[in-house]
Amino acid sequence: MTDQPPAGHQDNKSQNNSSDGHTPPAGACQRFIHHLELSTLLTVVGIVCLFATSVAVVLIAPRYVDPTWTSPSSDFQVQMYEVSDPHVYISSPTRTRPDLQFVQHLVKNFTLLSFAESEIVRIIAPPELEKYITRYKDPILKLTTQLLLLRHPKASEETETASSKGFDASAASQKLQAQLQEKWKEEHAGAMEKGIPKIRYQIYELYAPEGPEAFSVGDPDVIIENWVDQNFTIVDGTSAQAYHAHDGVIYVNNPIEYRVHKFSSGESKVEWRFDPHGDPIKSVAELTAEPLGFRSRKNLIEMGEHLYAIEGCWYCHTDQTRTLVQDVVLNGSDSYPAPPSSPNEYIYQKITFPGTRRIGPDLSRVGIKRPSRDWHKGHFWSPKTESPGSIMPSFKHLFDFDPSGTGKATVGVPSYQFEALFQYLMTKGTRITPPTEAWWLGKDPIQTIEIIEGRK
Ligand code: HEC
Repeated sequence: MTDQPPAGHQDNKSQNNSSDGHTPPAGACQRFIHHLELSTLLTVVGIVCLFATSVAVVLIAPRYVDPTWTSPSSDFQVQMYEVSDPHVYISSPTRTRPDLQFVQHLVKNFTLLSFAESEIVRIIAPPELEKYITRYKDPILKLTTQLLLLRHPKASEETETASSKGFDASAASQKLQAQLQEKWKEEHAGAMEKGIPKIRYQIYELYAPEGPEAFSVGDPDVIIENWVDQNFTIVDGTSAQAYHAHDGVIYVNNPIEYRVHKFSSGESKVEWRFDPHGDPIKSVAELTAEPLGFRSRKNLIEMGEHLYAIEGCWYCHTDQTRTLVQDVVLNGSDSYPAPPSSPNEYIYQKITFPGTRRIGPDLSRVGIKRPSRDWHKGHFWSPKTESPGSIMPSFKHLFDFDPSGTGKATVGVPSYQFEALFQYLMTKGTRITPPTEAWWLGKDPIQTIEIIEGRK
């Protein structure tokens, strides 16, 4: 393009020639570019830019543009997988209790607790703890980050904790029992003659245990905890943890201290049983070590993921709510469509099972659709009983530690394996978006309702 070679050109050429007669002249490259058409140059630059942009868009941009790809979707999800407290711990059946046992680890300022009365459960407390009780028919649920527990009412001389000194719970409980019985009799005049049995109220004492942590008995069917999104107040006023400030919070209802009695059963083997008069469990280490051997929910979720692979659940089930109307409506409803799956729902999983075939229903929101442990117990034992006509095989080997599943028992006691699969299933949809209508609606990027209404 230029007639005159640039300055220094000549020198380079002579240098090269002197060292090696066969190497191309150093200015050749420059000259090659000089001889290119402008349009060719622009094309090459264009291709390089395009390539760089696509790499940036695919690999780099999502990390900055959309954090929901790479970070947990909610504090609930973090709590379930990362935070060790509050944790549910589960142990195998013992002679005195046929089912698995559930223990919740409660930590002061961490766990939200509620002490709610029902028609037959009533709670008494020394005056300073009164404010933590949600009385029967009180519409506002009171929650606290204080570590408090319930126990069978103790007489003042029996109480060892400072907080309840001078409060004779045993006497107060008897008095309340009598009052309630009297009131019941008035309201149900002639009930005895009609054969309506008399109510026996369960009265518990609320007390503050010493120490910043405790262990409480869990109810198997509410093992994914209770949670509430309206009409609640955190009595302490401050939210000690980030997730305490959420619109919907999870809490432990009426925790009763978990105490065990250890005993030796021949051959110096130590066994244990639940005993309300036994010793309280002191630490997570004691809880998870022998002989108690409780396992955390996190352990179980990981085990459940493996069982899901081993049992071939993925052959018949998908684990993804696509952005299609049929998916979001199937996993939600017409009026409250489920949010489509997003990448961050899977970030804790070691193996993901998006799946392609739907011989059975999609499971990505099953924690919301079917939260009942009892339902799953019945369903794994005998799918046809729970869902008439089901072709899902029964998984009786998840019960009674009977790996071949050939036992002839008509009912089964679920083993760890059942619990592991159940806990794994309960992570699907629950911790990503709490199952309230408000959360549901807020996460509907494809405006399903509009689409549905448009079709009508
Ligand atoms: C041969 C195919 C097949 C296999 C394998 C299978 N399922 Fe199913 N599953 C079905 C069918 C069909 C249904 C629907 C009928 C019913 O509810 O039983 C179903 C229903 C379900 C449901 C209820 C879902 C809902 O929304 O109602 C759950 C939960 C479930 N299966 C979990 C599992 C798990 C966990 C495994 C692995 C241990 C598994 N399934 C293995 C076919 C299968």
